[in-house]
Amino acid sequence: MIPTTKYARRAARWLVDSVMGNGLAQRENEATEVGSVSAEASSLTRQAAAEGCVLLTNDGTLPLGADDEIAVFGRCSLDWFFMGHGSGGDVNAPHTVSLIEGLQEAGIRYNRVLAKVYSGWCATEENAADPGWWGHWPTHYPEMPVDAELAEAAAQTARAAVVVLGRTAGEDADLPLAPGGYYLTDEERSLLDVVGTAFKHTVVVLNVGNLIDLLWVEELGDKISAVLVAWQGGMEAGAAVADVLFGKTNPSGRLAATVARAYEDYPSSTTFGNKHHVNYTEDIYVGYRHFDTHAPQKVLFPFGHGLSYTRFEEEIVSVELYGNLVGARVRVSNVGTCSGRNAVLLWCEPPKGSIPKPTRILAAFGKTGLLAPGESTQLDLVCDLKTLSSFDRVSRAFVLEEGDYQFDCTDAASGIRIAERRIVEKCTPLCQSSDELRERILQNLPDEVGAQTEEAQDKRISFDDVRKGAKTLDALVANLSQAELEALTCGEGLMNSKLGAPGNAGAFGGITSDLRERGIPAAICADGPSGGRLQRTCSLLPCATALACTWDQDLVRRLYGSVAEELRASNVDVLLAPSMNIQRNPRCGRNFEYFSEDPLVSGKMAAAVVRGLQDAGVSACPKHFACNNQETRRNTSDSRVSERALREVYLRGFEICVREATPDLIMTSYNKVNGVWAHYHYDLATTVLRGEWGFEGVVITDWWMRPARSPEFSKLHDNGYRLRAGVDVLMPGSMSHVLQMHSRPDGITRAELQRTARRVLAYLLTRS
Ligand code: BGC
Repeated sequence: MIPTTKYARRAARWLVDSVMGNGLAQRENEATEVGSVSAEASSLTRQAAAEGCVLLTNDGTLPLGADDEIAVFGRCSLDWFFMGHGSGGDVNAPHTVSLIEGLQEAGIRYNRVLAKVYSGWCATEENAADPGWWGHWPTHYPEMPVDAELAEAAAQTARAAVVVLGRTAGEDADLPLAPGGYYLTDEERSLLDVVGTAFKHTVVVLNVGNLIDLLWVEELGDKISAVLVAWQGGMEAGAAVADVLFGKTNPSGRLAATVARAYEDYPSSTTFGNKHHVNYTEDIYVGYRHFDTHAPQKVLFPFGHGLSYTRFEEEIVSVELYGNLVGARVRVSNVGTCSGRNAVLLWCEPPKGSIPKPTRILAAFGKTGLLAPGESTQLDLVCDLKTLSSFDRVSRAFVLEEGDYQFDCTDAASGIRIAERRIVEKCTPLCQSSDELRERILQNLPDEVGAQTEEAQDKRISFDDVRKGAKTLDALVANLSQAELEALTCGEGLMNSKLGAPGNAGAFGGITSDLRERGIPAAICADGPSGGRLQRTCSLLPCATALACTWDQDLVRRLYGSVAEELRASNVDVLLAPSMNIQRNPRCGRNFEYFSEDPLVSGKMAAAVVRGLQDAGVSACPKHFACNNQETRRNTSDSRVSERALREVYLRGFEICVREATPDLIMTSYNKVNGVWAHYHYDLATTVLRGEWGFEGVVITDWWMRPARSPEFSKLHDNGYRLRAGVDVLMPGSMSHVLQMHSRPDGITRAELQRTARRVLAYLLTRS
């Protein structure tokens, strides 16, 4: 409930900003310093924002002609939503370009009278865009009423109308299922009607972070000539959209999530937003996996949909099996009339078999370079058989059933035959019962390092000794006091650490004077993922959903590489990114930070982010592991998911990212997964992440965690429970002291403390 009087609102804002889970609220996060933003970052941001635009419909009105005068409607043309809200959005950009500014910069002729009416209306105190506050950001801004007279007057001189509609959501704030949220308001609907009637050509630009109801596109029929989803494209968004509208950039974006005809058509709609627990009743049938298999008639715009100003033909030249990989060569020809890029989505239809499966699975994807009319190229796409296989509960393995696997892209198909059922990968059994888990954990307890050795006695081994190779890491670990070991398992305690640039999200590692005397450095974290969220200016990137819609992993890698330079200049060690939860439902407040409903797209795009950052010397921290698929009660809600859906959908993207890009860190999520908080989840953090996928980095919590007692070890709670699960560092820290040191088996052992300290120190060594 939003308080209504001015003072009540101010008081509520102060309170919420101060005590929200994420302590660095926007009130405290305004830029006080100017950071360095490279020309490369600006130009890659613009390119990515343009290439992420998805053209849903076009009757030929787009691209607009350079000499056309246009009339721009919709207040978001000025009050553009550049980003979503919360830790994943609120970056202090050095500058932003709204659509009106983008058009101005490009020298486009637009109806100035109308523009003046809008700017005058928006500038009044009554209509000014309300920035909101933590968790209570407005999801839309009220529209200026437009009557037929105003629209017709503009239509006298303008050839086409461009109507901008905007939405935003954010952390702690799912998009409401209401007008102004998932649905259009009456004013927005009327705006489309009035403008669509007055103009022969009406182009709608959607400035959104979430997919919203789009049935009106069909209902309004001929009144709407084209619909472009521009997302929240970061600081250069307006320039990028102008590039697309006027054909400087040929749109090549494609949807990375399905647009259903109605909200109720999403199978998650019956459980999304539940407060205590959320049953993932749709199981593996998320997004196109559901629609293709069970409800093709409920799709308005399918996953992968996106138009271009030219036409492409795709031909599968070959499909071959090499061990556990399928290689497909696809020939792409531009058979249209202008240059463009084409994203190729390679689908696989698996045989029916005995395990129920989706009708088709995205097997691989790639993107061509710019092809001139008449030009062709070949893309070599590789698909890991695990992507096509099914998790079989009986054999506890990913299996590929025998039969024909048919591969196809837009207009071609080819197949491979798997002669007999294959085990692609055996999996470790996950938690069967508390007793069984207790036994497994006990069997894997580490041994103490250097207990009786000389190193343990040798006073003051320093970090430098290890760095120079004079001492081993184990010697240093053995040499640390109990207090030092404990300090390495917790962050410093607050956000905005004095050890880092103002506005950082916290520090871990050398956070006490004892540790620093040994030369152990602190690692500084910053949010992530839309750029560096600091109290200094930093490039504001397009939201992750837009990046996924580019289908261009290399562009995403270069984009984050360019931001890494800015972060290094601010001494940031870790960008808390990519956010990579699955878009299970279109209303999740953080969908803008997430890539897709599909794990392959999420995993590959996240891997590109990780490579971009880490190759340029900044660590990545994919998050939130796992099943943070809604913001409603994210701190307390239990995501109840079958092991099959977990492994094939919700963990799979993380797995791809970990195996392909080796992130330095991983962040757990706030929610429970099948009854256990993710930050206490041994099977997630240890059995699967480290055991199966070989992750060797540092696992950190999301910011603060819930107190709880371990069901397996009655004397362990909070930090002890966490450490035994294999979650190394509590961020940003605190929960005072700490560990329940008792003798084996129930208490935390010195060896377990050492194991965590070793991981943190090994990480810090890579940075020095
Ligand atoms: C968010 C994380 C973020 C952290 C630090 C949490 O509230 O869930 O994604 O990295 O705060 O700002």
